[in-house]
Amino acid sequence: MIKSWRLDDSRQTLVLGSDGQHFAEIVYWGARLPDDEDLSTLYQSTKIDVTGGMLDENPRLSICPEAINTFPGQPGLIVSKVTGQPVMLKFSFASADEAENQLDLTYKDQSGDVSYQAKFAIDPTTHVIEASASLNSKAPLRLHWLSAPVFPAPQSSDEMYDFAGRWCGEFQMNKTAWSAGIRCRENRTGRTGHEHFPGLIVPCRGTTNTSGQTYGFHYGWSGGHRMVAEELPDGRRQIQFGNATHLEHDPQTSFETAKLYAVFSDGGLNGCAAAFQRHVRDRIVKFPDPKKPRPVHYNCWEAVYFDHKLDELKDIATMAADLGAERFVLDDGWFRNRNDDTRALGDWEVDLGKYPEGLQPLIDHVHSEKMSFGLWFEPEMINQNSDTFRAHPEWALGEEGQILGRQQMALDMALPAVQDFLFDRVSKILADHSIDYIKWDHNRVLPTPDAAQTRGSYALLDRLRAAHPHVEIESCASGGGRIDFGILGRTHRVWLSDSNDAVERLKIQHNAALFLPMAVTGSHVGPRKCHTSGRVLDIGFRAWVAAQRHMGFEMDPRELTKDEAQVLRTVTAWWRANRDWMMHADILRLDSADPSVLAEQQMDQSGEQFVVFVGKPNTSSQTVPRPLRLTRLSPDAKYRIELVNSSDPSGLSRGKQAIKQSPLELSGAFLMNHGLTLPWSFPETMWVIKGTLL
Ligand code: GLA
Repeated sequence: MIKSWRLDDSRQTLVLGSDGQHFAEIVYWGARLPDDEDLSTLYQSTKIDVTGGMLDENPRLSICPEAINTFPGQPGLIVSKVTGQPVMLKFSFASADEAENQLDLTYKDQSGDVSYQAKFAIDPTTHVIEASASLNSKAPLRLHWLSAPVFPAPQSSDEMYDFAGRWCGEFQMNKTAWSAGIRCRENRTGRTGHEHFPGLIVPCRGTTNTSGQTYGFHYGWSGGHRMVAEELPDGRRQIQFGNATHLEHDPQTSFETAKLYAVFSDGGLNGCAAAFQRHVRDRIVKFPDPKKPRPVHYNCWEAVYFDHKLDELKDIATMAADLGAERFVLDDGWFRNRNDDTRALGDWEVDLGKYPEGLQPLIDHVHSEKMSFGLWFEPEMINQNSDTFRAHPEWALGEEGQILGRQQMALDMALPAVQDFLFDRVSKILADHSIDYIKWDHNRVLPTPDAAQTRGSYALLDRLRAAHPHVEIESCASGGGRIDFGILGRTHRVWLSDSNDAVERLKIQHNAALFLPMAVTGSHVGPRKCHTSGRVLDIGFRAWVAAQRHMGFEMDPRELTKDEAQVLRTVTAWWRANRDWMMHADILRLDSADPSVLAEQQMDQSGEQFVVFVGKPNTSSQTVPRPLRLTRLSPDAKYRIELVNSSDPSGLSRGKQAIKQSPLELSGAFLMNHGLTLPWSFPETMWVIKGTLL
């Protein structure tokens, strides 16, 4: 008898089915099907043929492909006995629990001692499907690999996009052609990492940012993932995501994957991007007060590094407030002996040499400037040159003699004593001061990956959040080394990159927007001469790139000329005036006809207003700008189009273009089909266009 289930929202349908007791298969995932579709017929229609050189029947590409079934690809589950002997489990259907927008399928092994469960939930508003798998056993087992429920990948796709990166160069998109065999990304660094963002986009043929069918995936786990995108010999394709292999060091009776987030879009890459952005902002991140506007940050790292002097910091705070900052974040260097990055991690007490009366005088000053106060911590790390390490060398993770990272070791977060110690120290600082923000860093990879470490970090974060619910947390790991939906369930902002170079940042932001909303994506105006690239960039460009996301400053404001300070004040005031709607806007990547232009449209969910940021990291090859086509407008509606930074054209822009003089009224149809013709501009500049529905 055929069993079948479906999950729907307004844009997509997911159909699972089986014709016996075996694991269900996802037999359809794509555009919404009619309500009266006969799922038994549909199931039967998806059966593929058998020909020469094949088994006599096709092994199922199920939610957990089974090795025992002669599956010709990667299985969804690999376990062994405690002794190391492989266990070949044979599961059969036990139960299906259906609730609105949810489906749980449970299977039991023949012996009845092991059960497997897959959970699916579809969010009708954001369109994101959450899927996870778990395994429970009466006797302890060793887990080598457990995939979240396996999704088929479309056959009408020629390539897949996944993400690589490095320090100061996160979210680099890899485009790989589908071919027979596996594309495997396995992250064994023990943290999400710059190098392996756990995301995958599978566009169908002909898809662009703005149109076409696309499938998006993200695995929400901070301890290192494994992705398998495999084309089987028969042509079928599967997508597996789970924790990196062998991440569970001890035999256990219960295992579960993190959540796999999956979405189908019929509106190009942007359909996936907007769905993930909304899901992160409205479902995953728990802001202490969601209605409170996101404050403009000032972070002192690139201004003073470890050289903290109270009077200077007070002056800097006053200047930052005058520029428009609303939160002052005191970065690394405030705790006992922390004069450089070789020492003191672990000794979370205020340095009374630098701050003889503690942090309070600085905090009072920051408050008097109407800013709130945030503080940097790197709780999971320890320097050997620290009192804490001298007292507890056994708390450090990994072998003695291991290669250090930034001269530091990681603490063993699975140890209750370590968790208690960190909870007490961080909690005390929070309880003793009026602090509403933590920048939480994680500057090295782990000596060996271990799921217990990630669970320990999550537990500490959860405990601190429960004890200090008003405190927001930023996830930083040498910039964007720990960005994923697992950490975002416990934090409120990500430090996307240590690169404050606006050229680099523009590119990183553009790709990160495939997953991250503006509300959580930190972006700061850096120094005139960038500390991580040596590039010298104009203040207007630096300011507008930061204004694309959660804006802040991270330079010494004393370096600003009067004119630069005025530009920064103006852009910040613009951001503050627009942030409320921009926080809820969809960031839509535009398909620029000019490869030297990176453009996005931030579209208010009501459709009544939008802003287009047209960044130009490079020089164009043609003489004048090519029209830029906008997206998701109402064709018949009229829009008022205004160049926000119209005073920026260079002297070399000599034409009498109407848009330079005054706002224009144009139809959605024209803006989407012909596009906006902008003035000529220098490289390393940005046009900002505000659109309003008339
Ligand atoms: C990391 C972070 C930086 C800064 C330093 C402080 O590199 O990414 O932003 O906080 O640590 O040591």
